Amino acid sequence: MKNQITKIGVLTSGGDCPGMNAAIRAVVRTGLYNKLEVYGIRRGYQGLIEDDIVKMESRSVANIIQLGGTILKTARSKDFKTPEGRKIAYDNLVKRGINGLVVIGGDGSFRGAVDFSKEYDIPCIGIAGTIDKDITGTDFTIGFDTAVNTAVSAIDKVRDTMDAHDRIFIIEVMGRDAGYIALHSGIATGAENILIPERKTGIDSIVNSLLEKERRKKLVNLIVVAEGFELGGASKIQELLKDKLPKAEIRICILGHIQRGGSPTCIDRLIASRMGFHAVECLMDGRHNVFVGIQNNRMNYIPLEDAVKSKGKVSEEWMRIVKILAS
Ligand code: F6P
Repeated sequence: MKNQITKIGVLTSGGDCPGMNAAIRAVVRTGLYNKLEVYGIRRGYQGLIEDDIVKMESRSVANIIQLGGTILKTARSKDFKTPEGRKIAYDNLVKRGINGLVVIGGDGSFRGAVDFSKEYDIPCIGIAGTIDKDITGTDFTIGFDTAVNTAVSAIDKVRDTMDAHDRIFIIEVMGRDAGYIALHSGIATGAENILIPERKTGIDSIVNSLLEKERRKKLVNLIVVAEGFELGGASKIQELLKDKLPKAEIRICILGHIQRGGSPTCIDRLIASRMGFHAVECLMDGRHNVFVGIQNNRMNYIPLEDAVKSKGKVSEEWMRIVKILAS
């Protein structure tokens, strides 16, 4: 099977995340080391349809391991969701003789790769890159660690002013419909309440916990809420709490896209390098149409078709720790 692949393309798709550049670098350099031609496809699947493809050399990826964003740029392509769009994309690959594709992105990007690989005989390998960490089968996704660290350092700053004024603060973090950024950053900053989509929490239980703390003269309260929490984000929670606690001084802070930017942490650079390296090995070894994950510090290769959003599971251990430590 080795060496059937001669030319590979690499693209980044969906929401960008810190560490994508490190993954691109790893794919390009592993490909070149194995005497493959490597092509960078700009703006994800959209660039593939629009033939925005450049040949990559070792120097093309020099000095990027530390950069956030993606040098290849990214997009959420509507056209690639259509058979017509995928046909044009295929023709553009064939034109250059590209016979293997590495897709760095989240589950939406993987779904695109599944459709494509069902229709055409070009093998695709996925690399899990999303700050949301919402993909089953991998302990890490590229960008999550950086996003959490960004959130932690922002929340620490808010805590200073919150503490000075004895206020209640609600901080909203990203994650789409997953609560991992909220859970991890909330635990790491000693949040009194962490509100995540994976767990039901009624407004009365938050009110009761605030009142109980008030009785103990604990006036500073940090609530970290995931944007996908079922009752709503920071503004909505503020509104609901104001109804019940009209005298409370409640401020909100929505961290937003700063969580997606910045220089990747060491962990994100390491996993991106490792996943990028193994993605190329997969193509060469004939292990096709899988995504590359890491579980228990071992590589895990999961059929792209089985790449699903992880839903609803947050360890009971963590929830107990939150409850006990936030008292
Ligand atoms: O999937 C990454 C993510 O940052 C989510 O956390 C967030 O909900 C979404 O992308 C935001 O997307 P956009 O940048 O398109 O607004």
